[in-house]
Amino acid sequence: MENIILIGFMGSGKTTIGLKLSYYLRCPVVDTDKEIEREEKRTVSEIFAADGEGYFRDKETECLKKLLKEPGRRIISAGGGLPLREQNRKLLHELGRVFYLRAGAGTIWERLKYDTTRPLLQGNDPQERIRTLLAERDAYYRDAADVTVDVDNKEFEQIMDEIEKQL
Ligand code: S3P
Repeated sequence: MENIILIGFMGSGKTTIGLKLSYYLRCPVVDTDKEIEREEKRTVSEIFAADGEGYFRDKETECLKKLLKEPGRRIISAGGGLPLREQNRKLLHELGRVFYLRAGAGTIWERLKYDTTRPLLQGNDPQERIRTLLAERDAYYRDAADVTVDVDNKEFEQIMDEIEKQL
């Protein structure tokens, strides 16, 4: 049985949907950010501040390689920037079926406006940053995905139904 992988921008619902799918399909969920934090014994923000984004991106690639060696089906919730590397997109395809949770800038802003845990959005115009990053990244997400699910204005249950139909 292949893994189910959730990709998409920060705040697109990967963690929440991942947990729900894990419960529904009775298989473990892995969050690449949490795996990296556990291995590094520090938060993503601390890693970015001390060692920079490049270091964190290398950890993401290592994390995918490690997951490839693990047996059994998993739900994998991937960090928002992970699919930007071509190598990572290939690894994602090897790992299983990739679902892109596509959210618009408005949805993301509503969900993340009080968030302090995403280092990439801590500048003085996070709304503009979301729009810019989203425009840069959409093509990479689409390239990495087997299925794209639009999540704007949908309840989580509806998103789950759409994913289930594709399994
Ligand atoms: C990032 C997304 C975050 C985390 C890091 C960088 C990004 O994960 O990996 O802050 O580049 O979009 P989430 O998508 O789980 O928030």
